Amino acid sequence: MSRQISGKTIVAGVAGQPVWQSLSPLLHNAWLETAGIDGVYVAFAPPADNFRDFAHGLRGGAVRGINVTLPFKEAALSISDRATPRAKRADAANLLLFEADGSIIADNTDGIGLLAAFALQAPGFDPKAGPVVIIGAGGAARGAAAAFQAAGAPEVRIVNRTIAKAEFVAGALGECGRSFHLDEARGALAGATAVVNATSAGLINGGRVEIPLDATPETAVIMDMVYTPLITPFLQEAQALGRRTVDGLGMLVGQAEPSFEAFFGRPPPEGIDVRALALAAVGAAA
Ligand code: ATR
Repeated sequence: MSRQISGKTIVAGVAGQPVWQSLSPLLHNAWLETAGIDGVYVAFAPPADNFRDFAHGLRGGAVRGINVTLPFKEAALSISDRATPRAKRADAANLLLFEADGSIIADNTDGIGLLAAFALQAPGFDPKAGPVVIIGAGGAARGAAAAFQAAGAPEVRIVNRTIAKAEFVAGALGECGRSFHLDEARGALAGATAVVNATSAGLINGGRVEIPLDATPETAVIMDMVYTPLITPFLQEAQALGRRTVDGLGMLVGQAEPSFEAFFGRPPPEGIDVRALALAAVGAAA
């Protein structure tokens, strides 16, 4: 990389455990280089049980801000001094900003990323048009549910292996939320406009969640948050049924864009295809 590190370099990064596989440094540094911004984006792997001390150490001008990934998204919100409404709604943060006065602001751009991916890969999809289904009831599912609710979805159906967790997530959505056990997925999928796999099943080698996607209307859009591989078995099945699909890489890029602007004060530059870069990296790692 031809960039120089100067006395004015703005430092940002991503914190996760593990973090080596994160594509965020690739995306942000490509944008920084193209825009000619004096900044750098690095990866941090704090201890899993002490996010607070790690984050406090970045305050007071050391680092401008960080993205936060698994397993720290809930901890990031809890150690912040202030949080945006969308971080509160998702009950998690994927973005922390370290202010000049020493305070920490929590934000969440995952919802923007999710909707941006739909807008790009399923043009014409309207979250207001009907019920959406989220498979899973962990942090990722909660964030997706909050984003669809905020975008005007009339009903958000939470389908999960552990029904108590589905009930909890659906309950937080008020009138808009409904919960289903995984065994009742067929009923949940009927009439759905979109289905999002937000389980961690695909993150584990060979793991997958069995969902009867044939129960969805032909017009339903199917998304998987996992992007390794880009076309997961879940998306393969959806495509075999002729459904439109949205991949997790679209969401990754979609959440990175507003994060970049928060760190470096301007939107990512045009003229560089970071999706292609990320795809090459994923391909190389596969
Ligand atoms: P995250 O914060 O990434 O969402 P999480 O909080 O651990 O991770 O949640 C993982 C979700 O994936 C849960 O909804 C989990 O179901 P349970 O609540 O029943 O544990 C779901 N999940 C993981 N592996 C699964 C599998 N093999 N089949 C079905 N659901 C699975």
